[in-house]
Amino acid sequence: MKRIIRWGVAGPGRAAERFAEGLKAVDAATLTAVWGRRPDRAQAYAQRFQVANLCTTLDELNAADVDAIYVATHPDSHAEICLKALAAGKHVLCEKPAALNIAQLQRVLSAARSHDRLFMEAMKPPFFPLYRRLREHLLADPIGSVGFVRAGHCDASLPPDYPLRFSELGGGGIMGIGPYEAFLALDWLGPLKRVQTMGRLAVSGVDAFALFQSEHERGMAQLHTGLDLMSLGDALLSGPRGYVILHPNWWNPTRATIHYIDRRRIELHEPFTAGGFNYETSHFCDLIRHCQRESPEITHALSLDMARLLESARAALRVRFPGE
Ligand SMILES: NC(=O)c1ccc[n+]([C@@H]2O[C@H](COP(=O)([O-])OP(=O)(O)OC[C@H]3O[C@@H](n4cnc5c(N)ncnc54)[C@H](OP(=O)(O)O)[C@@H]3O)[C@@H](O)[C@H]2O)c1
Repeated sequence: MKRIIRWGVAGPGRAAERFAEGLKAVDAATLTAVWGRRPDRAQAYAQRFQVANLCTTLDELNAADVDAIYVATHPDSHAEICLKALAAGKHVLCEKPAALNIAQLQRVLSAARSHDRLFMEAMKPPFFPLYRRLREHLLADPIGSVGFVRAGHCDASLPPDYPLRFSELGGGGIMGIGPYEAFLALDWLGPLKRVQTMGRLAVSGVDAFALFQSEHERGMAQLHTGLDLMSLGDALLSGPRGYVILHPNWWNPTRATIHYIDRRRIELHEPFTAGGFNYETSHFCDLIRHCQRESPEITHALSLDMARLLESARAALRVRFPGE
């Protein structure tokens, strides 16, 4: 019998709702406690997902009888909440981006090591059935070493009060969709060498549009994000013997088309279930059961490289958050 993993949630918003939906599909895991700074929102969440322990303070959540805490507040508070949870002896799954900047992330990773706890950034795409199948397919029928990645997404339809529009919450397109794009580039092209960026800012000081190119050990990527334009949300992986199109929205991947140099075309289609957070959560629960302190998929080094890419892109545009 699998050991049951008990979860607590910090920040009962949109992401936390998807997390709770996903958890229903995870074997041997329960949602035990929740804390939100707005009691009404936390109470509604507790009722909707039948969470027994409705905590009124973060300290109460950290003292609750749970194995792991899922941090789903905005990026400005990720590091502080993660540090407290780790110090309280909890394993931590933190929403992307795992921290506001490299320095904060380094503090969190160092705390995870010193408290001997598991820490993982919630970077969902590689756990989706389509992404796994694509990796397997390319091993069996390769397109050669991927040398170019293109990914982007702009969404001008986000409402004016959407968190990404606020500098004080660690907003902007680079911090919103950028982490997924950074992941894709690093996953296929290897460690980061340098970043070149163009873009423009919104009145609030966050990036309204950013176009960034990254050079990696095995190739180059061209990435974009935006909050005042519309674009498709697909991705391209380009190799010497073919290319892959990951269809929109590629960070919740369900369809890929592989075009080979010999003109063969392969369609992959793998729908996801339960909102899609279930796969990464299930992986995290297994890591706890196996006493692992780092995911072999989303390693600490990968999270640091993602943070480096995002911070370089922001620095070029002079996007600074309060306190930085
Ligand atoms: N993996 C994914 O697919 C996915 C999807 C969406 C978002 N995300 C990530 O999830 C995180 C949250 O985004 P969201 O869209 O869920 O935002 P959201 O709907 O606004 O929810 C955020 C929650 O955190 C709380 N919160 C925010 N700042 C806080 C602070 N300083 N102290 C205590 N509580 C705080 C909010 O409380 P209030 O209600 O009081 O504001 C709310 O309960 C972001 O990092 C985002 O990038 C991931």
